Amino acid sequence: MEFDTVIHGGTIVTASEQYRGDIGIRDGRIIAVAERLDGGERRIDAGGRLVMPGGIEAHAHIAQESASGIMTADDYLSGSISAAFGGNSSFIPFAAQHRGQSIDDVIATYDALSKPSVIDYSYHLIVSDPTEAVLTEQLPRAFARGITSLKVFTTYDLLNIGDAGMLDILSVARDHGALTMVHAENHAIVAWMNRELATRGMTAPKYHAISRPELAEEEAINRVITLAQLAGAPLFVVHVSTAGGAARVQRARAEGAIVFAETCPQYMALTRDDLDRPGMEGAKYICSPPVRDTATQDALWRHVQTGTFDSVSSDHAPYRYDETGKLMHGPDAPYSKIANGMPGIAARLPWLFSEGVAAGRLRPEEFVALTSTNAARIFGVDKKGRIAPGMDADIAIWNPETVRTVTLEDQHDNMDYTPFEGMELTGVPEIVMNRGTVIVEHGELRAKEGQGRFVARSRIDLTGRPGVAVKETALMHAAEGRE
Ligand code: URP
Ligand code: ZN
Ligand code: ZN
Repeated sequence: MEFDTVIHGGTIVTASEQYRGDIGIRDGRIIAVAERLDGGERRIDAGGRLVMPGGIEAHAHIAQESASGIMTADDYLSGSISAAFGGNSSFIPFAAQHRGQSIDDVIATYDALSKPSVIDYSYHLIVSDPTEAVLTEQLPRAFARGITSLKVFTTYDLLNIGDAGMLDILSVARDHGALTMVHAENHAIVAWMNRELATRGMTAPKYHAISRPELAEEEAINRVITLAQLAGAPLFVVHVSTAGGAARVQRARAEGAIVFAETCPQYMALTRDDLDRPGMEGAKYICSPPVRDTATQDALWRHVQTGTFDSVSSDHAPYRYDETGKLMHGPDAPYSKIANGMPGIAARLPWLFSEGVAAGRLRPEEFVALTSTNAARIFGVDKKGRIAPGMDADIAIWNPETVRTVTLEDQHDNMDYTPFEGMELTGVPEIVMNRGTVIVEHGELRAKEGQGRFVARSRIDLTGRPGVAVKETALMHAAEGRE
């Protein structure tokens, strides 16, 4: 067999096993995996290294203008480069609808923005305006194009679609085999807390964490799971930050509900004390839902270890610590006017590898599942997330022993800070490939601008997952003669 590249002598790690073997690559695909493969125009020596599927970053905000008009610092070039340095071979950022905008227009906008990407990409839609035309014509068109997931919000004035809107979205997504992702926080609780804190003059960054109580997330996760059950729809709960929220996901699953969930490194690495750094430094750590406390970190780790979370994503939402981002409303802005979100697309995998695998909390196989394989399965990325013949050669070769201190420079993004600065992490992705092309090699960028391709994704496969039957909707459907 002729190979373009052979990766030789490494320990191949999949979501279920690890073994010594060689990987043969031709035309961007893995065409052979065997104990020993000869040949190859290029042979990469992976002795002493872990050879894993390249990361799939399933939650990132790239070239996205927030509902209040602030642009993320990273576009598809810098965001994809940063992702690649962090061990990712592909990503699924959001394509966000602003109210009044058609979904076709949203997709056309992001199709133009995404061209420079150095890694493969798809989009999750963000739907903020579920009009009749959106529900009946535009979303089905997007799903047919392979954009088979969308995110909706229970909070933020310009994004919250309300419970009825949520039911409409869940139903349409279910009918078309698409997956609804939800940002779940109780809007009224947050608004009320904002008012109470403002009345008391409590507007410094540290009050951001207080303004969005754990109960707000727990209630909203519970409510949206309930709505998803009523609609008979699968649900993906993003950026879970609380023990209570995670427990609700776990219970729903035990009851048979089709609920997926993720958490993010920041909820296990940072606490609300970071929001109380001197001056306005705390603004760097403002994200929603907010970072919590060490007890929550421990609980979230247990949920990562016991399978409540399908993936650990970055929620990379890069707003610089200057007047273009965090300080847009001035150097002393109240927390409620500071852009929500923090960067982390390059840090996600190194942080999780170090705190998970190197620290003995996770097996390498679990790391692969949480960072690549599960996202591929859940979001319908059929040719990625596994090392097997026929799959895209999206591969990351890790040195599991190198110790590195996180610096801003190493993130290779357009940011002026990293919340992970100074952390000492064990494990480095030395070589990262996108469809057989080396894009990062020992700290050097090898990728060509624009080499990333759009990935049309499959509809969600729910074989063997009937979900929870709801009597009343079953009776309604029976009355109209539907199964
Ligand atoms: O604060 C955050 N996470 N901002 C990004 C947008 C979102 O809700 O994921
Ligand atoms: Zn969100
Ligand atoms: Zn997000």
